[in-house]
Amino acid sequence: MKPSTAEVRQMFLNFFQNKGHQVVSSSSLIPKNDSTILFTNAGMNQFKDIFLGKEKQIYSRVTSSQRCIRAGGKHNDLTKVGFTTRHHTFFEMLGNFSFGDYFKHEAIAFAWELLTSRHWFNLPKEKLWVTVYQTDNETFDIWKKEIGVQPTQIIRIGDHQGKPYSSDNFWTMGKTGPCGPSSEIFFDHGPNLFGSPPGTLNEDGDRYVEIWNIVFMQFNRQLNGTMIPLPYPSVDTGMGLERITAVLQNVHSNYKIDVFTKLIQSAAEIIGTKDLNNKSLHVIADHIRSCAFLISDGVIPSNDNQSYVLRRLIRRAVHHGKMLGAKETFFFKLVDPLISIMDINDNNFNQKKKKIEKVLRTEEEQCTKNIERGVSLLNTELALLSDNTLRGDIVFRLYDTFGFPLEWTENICKQRNVKIDKIGFEYSMKQQRQRARNASNFHSKNKSVIYITQSSVFKGYEYLQLQTVITSINVDGESVKTISHGKHGIIVLETTPCYAESGGQIGDSGNLYDTNNSHFIIHDTQRYAQAIGHTGQIITGELHIGDTVIVKVNKQRRERICLNHSGTHLLQAALRQVLGQHVEQKGSYINDCFLRFDFSHYQAMTLEEIYEVEEIINSNIRLNALIETHVMKLETAKESGAIALFNETYSDYVRVLKINDCSIELCGGTHAKRTGDIGLFHLLSESSIAAGVRRIEAVTGDKALSILQKENKQLLNIAHLFKANRHNIYEKIHTFIQYTHNLEEKINKIENQKAIQESSLLVKNFIIIKDIKILVHALNNIEPKTLHIIIKKLKNHIGSGIIVLASILDGKVSIITNVTSNLTDYIKACDIITILAPKIDGKGGGNAHIAQAGGLNASALPEALIYIKEWLSENLKNIT
Ligand code: ALA
Repeated sequence: MKPSTAEVRQMFLNFFQNKGHQVVSSSSLIPKNDSTILFTNAGMNQFKDIFLGKEKQIYSRVTSSQRCIRAGGKHNDLTKVGFTTRHHTFFEMLGNFSFGDYFKHEAIAFAWELLTSRHWFNLPKEKLWVTVYQTDNETFDIWKKEIGVQPTQIIRIGDHQGKPYSSDNFWTMGKTGPCGPSSEIFFDHGPNLFGSPPGTLNEDGDRYVEIWNIVFMQFNRQLNGTMIPLPYPSVDTGMGLERITAVLQNVHSNYKIDVFTKLIQSAAEIIGTKDLNNKSLHVIADHIRSCAFLISDGVIPSNDNQSYVLRRLIRRAVHHGKMLGAKETFFFKLVDPLISIMDINDNNFNQKKKKIEKVLRTEEEQCTKNIERGVSLLNTELALLSDNTLRGDIVFRLYDTFGFPLEWTENICKQRNVKIDKIGFEYSMKQQRQRARNASNFHSKNKSVIYITQSSVFKGYEYLQLQTVITSINVDGESVKTISHGKHGIIVLETTPCYAESGGQIGDSGNLYDTNNSHFIIHDTQRYAQAIGHTGQIITGELHIGDTVIVKVNKQRRERICLNHSGTHLLQAALRQVLGQHVEQKGSYINDCFLRFDFSHYQAMTLEEIYEVEEIINSNIRLNALIETHVMKLETAKESGAIALFNETYSDYVRVLKINDCSIELCGGTHAKRTGDIGLFHLLSESSIAAGVRRIEAVTGDKALSILQKENKQLLNIAHLFKANRHNIYEKIHTFIQYTHNLEEKINKIENQKAIQESSLLVKNFIIIKDIKILVHALNNIEPKTLHIIIKKLKNHIGSGIIVLASILDGKVSIITNVTSNLTDYIKACDIITILAPKIDGKGGGNAHIAQAGGLNASALPEALIYIKEWLSENLKNIT
């Protein structure tokens, strides 16, 4: 019996559980607090800080099946999907990890036992090949002597072109971070497939496929390439679930395993194709997995970072669907089959099914519109072509902006006997990659370059002032013993009441004194690894490491921050109540002046919804409910329904903030004691910040009151202007607007009458040149709008002719010219304006029939009109 994908996953986890490993759930696809990678690309990501020794380990050996995306950043297989049998943008990585527990011997023995034991995967030993890092004799010997692998099937892999640590057998997570030499295990799919053993010319063929990578984590790679040894050698392994399943199901392509066969079948049915071997179905089956899981982890398609990759994945899938002949929106219809085929029983995913479908559908509809625009661009470019090759930058634009796969453009061009410039395309592509690379060298805050090894204890939940000791001082990025008068720096204390910025809440400010009256003003508080750093300036005396000091939080500022933070929790609860449970926090920023809350929601809130949210919050404030915090086990917190942030990983014990029955959230921030302390909540604005993400800004407490008072004052001032009061101001303004409209209508009527009069007077001013009626004339105090009416009337009157009419109003000149269509072959209105505009220091434009100009030099007008009269006679002279 061949095991299913789900059974393979379970066997792996069972095996390692039997070997004393704790089973850990997959973390989000979006790395938490890690700007060095775009997506979770390996099982070890969630344990990075444990490998680095920054986070305390709870278990020394764990195992997991981690969902990964390799579609951007260092590990990117996007372009291989659909072309190979074994690459995916989304896959599950089975792994076992040791944090300073076992190392090479045990890791290798575990892997061999699982793969070859008849109780487990029972693979034939002779079909397994292994690689080791060139210089790693110890691993070579373990494989040879302890495991008994034939030396001819143990291959040493060196560095690429001798560049240190650039071997396929030296694994790095990103440009920086944990890394080490590795040993990979390959499965030989047999001589019927093309390919040769690892390390040889045709290693990329489908015959020898890497199934497991065992990394001996030993270093923390720095940006400049330096390798700093880790606190303890560790093990990180990764086995692609889909690859090992292919081996165990005795198929030679991941796309032939149970999950993919069914997904491909569903996609084919939905699209309406029978061509089950078409590679476009592989792409679609792969991409529905990455897209659906990315959306479930909170990503929304848009134009930067992860959101941009998601957008490209959706669009790529849609294009492949179109190539297969999809007539309707199809991609979102794959979510249902995906859930049943992958047997997804993850609550997070299933609760979001509707949202996932909606996001996919909207994006596909937009993409279809884009395709139409792309086709129109392509048609224009093809029509303008002077030879039979389409330029590479245009092919790239179609690819990048409109999402056309290269083969698509190529196909369309082929039908018209046009070639595409592939070299030019590659060049544009390279430039874009470079731009992307530059952009992904993420903006790390300056603080990350400051290393502080001390740790501090935060006591700010209970105290706003306390006595403590200075444990570290940092000036200009250097660790020093003393900070003297006038200097700016960072001071770390043993304990502190100051809250370090996190969870959207700004850091505290305050003051620090010693007994000699040395005084350091704290402008901000930030976390540096385990330390809490107080940034500021010493304005009196000097301070030293070891000094006993009194530290005081700026109380009034902190209190305002607390009100805004508690207000944010009430806001989230009210939004979920009014808009629905899909509302999810996407970001927040809380300071002493206002609060900002970003959340997922698909459309602008109506005024009624905004009022309802405000009303709910303010009634919760009036209830004056207790704001309680409890520290509890993460599991208990989740069971009690506490809202957690998706991209966040939490430690085993968490702080839970509960307000009545209306809000329960995991939160490390500082808060008001009772809801009544918030006093008043006033919503200032609601806007969009990205597709599907809205932003609310609001104020609380005395700030809310003062803003409302200001608004009230403004209302009263306006009422005063209108000689009204707050009760009748709306009607007064309404009446006033009506009155203005009436006046406007009256003015229009008068202008019209004036135009009729003027035009009847002007009729006699036409001159005739070569049988053509011409009027060049200046009027006074006529609006451009009225000039147009006059011209229209004159034109109707004369039937055929040329009219140049000017008017001076408030010192400014307007000129309008009209040439009837039977004459535009000889004289064009726009040519007349081109001559006249500069003469009156003005600008203008128009077409052959009608053109107009405006200028500032009224005194130049008479001469300009004389000139144009002469020019017209000159130009009309030769008409026969
Ligand atoms: N972290 C290693 C990999 O991703 C196991 O291959």
